[in-house]
Amino acid sequence: MIQKSTIDQVFDAARVEEVIGDFVQLKKSGSNYKGLSPFSDERTPSFMVSPVKQIWKDFSSGKGGNVVAFLMEHEHFSYPEAIKYLARKYGIEIEETEQTDEQKQQADERESMYLVSEFAKDYFKRQLLKTETGKAIGLSYFKERGFTKETIEKFELGYSPDVWDAFTSEAIKQGYKLEFLEKTGLSIVKEEKQFDRFKGRVMFPIHSMSGRTLGFGGRILTNDKKAAKYLNSPESDIYHKSKVLYGIYYAKQSIAKDDNCYLVEGYTDVIQMHQAGIENVVSSSGTALTSEQIRLINRLTQNITVLFDGDAAGIRASIRGIDLILEQGMNVKVCGFPEGEDPDSFAKNNTENDIKEYLEHNSKDFISYKASLLVNEAKGDPIKKAGVIRDMVNSIAKIPDRIQQEIYLKECARIMEISENVLYSTLAQISAKANNDASKKPASAPKEMSVVKETPVERVKVNQQHQLERNIISLLLRYGSVEDDFEDFVLREDEEGNVHLEGETQQLKVYEKVFLDLQEDEIEFTHQGFKEMYEVIIQEFNLRGEIKTETFVNNLVPEQASEITTILMQQEKDVLHRWDDQEIFVKDKSELEPREINETILNLRRFLIKEKVNELSESIKTNLGIQYRDVLLETMEYKSLEVLIAQKLNRVI
Ligand code: CTP
Ligand code: MN
Repeated sequence: MIQKSTIDQVFDAARVEEVIGDFVQLKKSGSNYKGLSPFSDERTPSFMVSPVKQIWKDFSSGKGGNVVAFLMEHEHFSYPEAIKYLARKYGIEIEETEQTDEQKQQADERESMYLVSEFAKDYFKRQLLKTETGKAIGLSYFKERGFTKETIEKFELGYSPDVWDAFTSEAIKQGYKLEFLEKTGLSIVKEEKQFDRFKGRVMFPIHSMSGRTLGFGGRILTNDKKAAKYLNSPESDIYHKSKVLYGIYYAKQSIAKDDNCYLVEGYTDVIQMHQAGIENVVSSSGTALTSEQIRLINRLTQNITVLFDGDAAGIRASIRGIDLILEQGMNVKVCGFPEGEDPDSFAKNNTENDIKEYLEHNSKDFISYKASLLVNEAKGDPIKKAGVIRDMVNSIAKIPDRIQQEIYLKECARIMEISENVLYSTLAQISAKANNDASKKPASAPKEMSVVKETPVERVKVNQQHQLERNIISLLLRYGSVEDDFEDFVLREDEEGNVHLEGETQQLKVYEKVFLDLQEDEIEFTHQGFKEMYEVIIQEFNLRGEIKTETFVNNLVPEQASEITTILMQQEKDVLHRWDDQEIFVKDKSELEPREINETILNLRRFLIKEKVNELSESIKTNLGIQYRDVLLETMEYKSLEVLIAQKLNRVI
């Protein structure tokens, strides 16, 4: 865990406009900056950064938050990764808490392994581009495959000399410890002797999501049938094959932007597709796809298109791994290539437009594709067909979404020319068996398939209340410490005993007014996030008399921070639109209007009273043993309160 003091230092030092400025071109606009949204393709800027509030908001995608939220969205960093990135940028030393000596040593070891890998990557690059043999052997090989200079540089390709220990001895000469050369698998140590694992190969560095070098793939250049064509770094503390996808660092942005990820087989497929202009491509590099790899993609998109070579064996092999993707609830398409072609050769021989068109026209929904493929194979063989049906339903059973399952069952029935009922009962059998198996294992959590029933009416009600609560938070954040005269209306009895509403002025700060009014009615927020924020806000005002948006936003969990950003930036959005369209008049919201406060609170109170009245009349209907008289009295009390509030609302508006 990163220590709180480090996180505080990072937040103190980081300026949101500087950090975002590294990724987005920002132009000063009033007290803010604006630019083109990095999350969508747009021509008119709707991306705003507020240096004063230290937050950003993208009005085209609705995203927003503080500096860390930006890095998490844009670079797809985890929270600690984002903090570490900022610490590096601002030269802050990271202190970690709760580390045992053993953990510390492990962290140091991992760091050393990263450094060795970084050194190796640079060494192989230098060999490829700067030495005569490297150029003659490695570079000419890549050129022959059609890789341009830019591509070679972008993917940091390299060459490992054809000498037993060229790399290892250079690394040791530069002060890197043999221990870490061995632990990363770059060097092999045998009987006091040490030599290079990748001797005489062209090198493909494998990067993490955030661009660190984790390991390598090395391709042989000779036609030696006995040696493996590709050698890969062994599993290590920094390289977990099952958690890495080749190319993810270069592809992540375009995967998110295009909302789709192409999955290919090898290094060269990824690189060639990139060079052709299709950048949302990754590969599992020869190993079977794992669920961790799928989750990596799932952070960026829900949609995967699996590309496979144009031979039958390739198709069968690919199909097996795909159920795993379905299990994660992702949408899967598949796309084959013409006989004898793979993504590498196809991308090399066609233009960007042709490739895109091909992919678009030949990508088929996986389930339908599998159904037609299998049913063709089983033609005229009833026993085989029965097996195929099971196989299909097995795939469909993996899909977590019930509605989608149903759509696929119907589609399958059509393609395979069997009745839907047969498929439904097979699915029921398979699901029952799966549930049964799951319940036998007490350790694993039960697979709940239940759907929370929520009628549309209930949903609207809940959201309306949340909306009102949100308005109150918004008022507090914008005007909390402003003092003003508030007119309240109280019931007064005159000499003749008639009750009427009378205005009474109180001088209060906005937060006091809100707090007092809500307390009077014992109103509690129902939205958990707003409730927590409300408590923090009131406490801050009571303690300090003000709220610093910067610190406030930085201490919230990401979802809350994003909500608050939306509230705070609403104002800037009005300004932004005014900027675009000079005709529209926007009222200046920096001026407090006590009216707005009264109105918001009264609306919430009225809403809650209505709820209460509904609840009471429901209880009369459903609960027979109830005391009618009591309920009626209570209802009447609420009704008169409702009338009172309506009157008050009329007076304020
Ligand atoms: N692979 C591997 N080890 C091997 C063979 C293959 O790790 N002995 C992995 C590599 O990641 C390779 C991928 O599987 O990129 C696909 O294998 P293949 O189709 O044989 O490789 P290509 O990328 O087509 O290689 P090339 O075009 O360079 O022959
Ligand atoms: Mn190939």
